[in-house]
Amino acid sequence: MNKKKIFIGIGVLLIVMQFFQIDKSPIAVDEKMTFATTEQPPKDVLAQLKSSCYDCHSNETKYPWYTYVAPVSFWIRGHIKHARKALNFSTWAAMSEEDRKHALHECAEKIEIGHMPPKGYYRMHEAAYLDDAKKALVHDWLQQQSR
Ligand code: HEC
Repeated sequence: MNKKKIFIGIGVLLIVMQFFQIDKSPIAVDEKMTFATTEQPPKDVLAQLKSSCYDCHSNETKYPWYTYVAPVSFWIRGHIKHARKALNFSTWAAMSEEDRKHALHECAEKIEIGHMPPKGYYRMHEAAYLDDAKKALVHDWLQQQSR
């Protein structure tokens, strides 16, 4: 095969991939089950968690344009699936009280050490970035609730 054929092959593959869009159909959110209803966080804490965590860890994901472009979309779909399985703010009340406390503690910890939100994410979502003041705000509340 010569180079030209390889490039055409890759091009065709990329075009064909676009026909396989990831499933973005909305998932019904039961307000009674959410983190907001269960834990009653202060407004500013909730707003920040929504900006920083909800695209991955909830059923209220907002999908930007590049989630329509394969193969990036395939990678993002996997990431969201993984994240929802680990922690889902939309179905928070499905956890036992003990598990909820543990989850609050885990969240506080991941934020404190800077593991969440992931670096690659807040590069694309400025509002998700936790500077020292925002970090302290959400971390301290989560930590307090986890006791
Ligand atoms: C871009 C997607 C994304 C965002 C945004 C994100 N996370 Fe995650 N998070 C993941 C993925 C994927 C995992 C599972 C794999 C892992 O542990 O790295 C995870 C794992 C976790 C876990 C570990 C759960 C367990 O299994 O114990 C916690 C806690 C967590 N995230 C909290 C947060 C918090 C709090 C925020 C917001 C401040 C946040 N995450 C933002 C993708 C994300």
